[in-house]
Amino acid sequence: MGNDDKCILVTGGAGFIGSHTVELLLASGYSVRVLDNFSSGHIDNLPQHEHLDIVQGDIRDQEQVNAVMQGATHCLHLAAQVSVSRSVEDPCDSATHNILGALNVMHAAAQAKVSKLVYASSAAVYGAPSQLPLTEASALAPLSPYGLEKWVDERYAALLASLHGLPSLGLRYFNVYGPRQDPRSPYAGVVARFIDRMLAHQAPIIFGDGTQSRDFIYVGDVARANLTALFSTHCGICNVATGQQIDLLDLIDLLSRSTGCTLPAQHLPAKAEDIRHSYGDPHRLAEWLSLTPQWTMDEGLGELIHHCRQTMTDDERPPLTVNA
Ligand SMILES: NC(=O)c1ccc[n+]([C@@H]2O[C@H](COP(=O)([O-])OP(=O)(O)OC[C@H]3O[C@@H](n4cnc5c(N)ncnc54)[C@H](O)[C@@H]3O)[C@@H](O)[C@H]2O)c1
Repeated sequence: MGNDDKCILVTGGAGFIGSHTVELLLASGYSVRVLDNFSSGHIDNLPQHEHLDIVQGDIRDQEQVNAVMQGATHCLHLAAQVSVSRSVEDPCDSATHNILGALNVMHAAAQAKVSKLVYASSAAVYGAPSQLPLTEASALAPLSPYGLEKWVDERYAALLASLHGLPSLGLRYFNVYGPRQDPRSPYAGVVARFIDRMLAHQAPIIFGDGTQSRDFIYVGDVARANLTALFSTHCGICNVATGQQIDLLDLIDLLSRSTGCTLPAQHLPAKAEDIRHSYGDPHRLAEWLSLTPQWTMDEGLGELIHHCRQTMTDDERPPLTVNA
């Protein structure tokens, strides 16, 4: 029997991580149904494919979620209000997406008796680390409503597993980067924002001294983790991290070489809520999902810059004299 007897519902499938995962699922022969309200995702991120069904809708609409879950054998829940700062400004609205919306999806998945629910959690559940690397057993102390909402989702998933036997795996993604991350969005990842400016030959902007470090993981590796998690028997929580930390000054060095922009970074005051260092322990990812990140930072950034150059409009290209 082929993979097309399995139907994967992907909420948020038109977004950054979702669209890469949908492509991988389709290439692996699965049927895919996307539920997305296109608030931050784009229909253009998705291919036209005979095994892809796209439904415009909202995870906050319980009836719609129940309807779209019918016939799904597996569910990957990625749809979310993804802005940490927006969750601080309007925690009630954020919770309607990230707690109530997520609960709609989880409850519908349990009722439909899907074989597996995989859902996006986040390294934001850890808050400021008291020890590094962060393991799945590290203390959780989120610094934002967003981080707390993801933690609540994890607790609901565990509860629905014991109440209804719903098999689920929550993936705590670290800093994901790659093509299709919108650099102009106010909450875009730092990699996308640096590249956007450096390709336009503008100095990258760093909040603080630039020695803060993060664990950056390429979106292609995250898509592989999502697919593997859907068909793994492991349930619970798993970091999706490389275990490597890179500081922002080194990141800019790498980007200078690939973009040709050698302008020194512009430093603005550090943000009070900024975590100094964060990186995840990837051992469980290797043990449970047999997965080690394949993309080095150099390769991932190269791919991303190539993509950005290809999608730049003529207006966005720097004048040739600057490039010379
Ligand atoms: N990108 C990262 O570094 C990162 C890190 C940790 C966790 N995450 C989590 O991964 C998931 C995917 O994030 P992303 O980076 O691809 O963001 P994204 O904004 O590109 O994708 C989110 C998708 O969800 C859709 N959506 C939002 N609210 C919705 C709603 N109420 N109903 C239906 N669709 C809705 C959006 O239109 C979008 O397509 C999110 O749950 C996010 O919290 C991302």
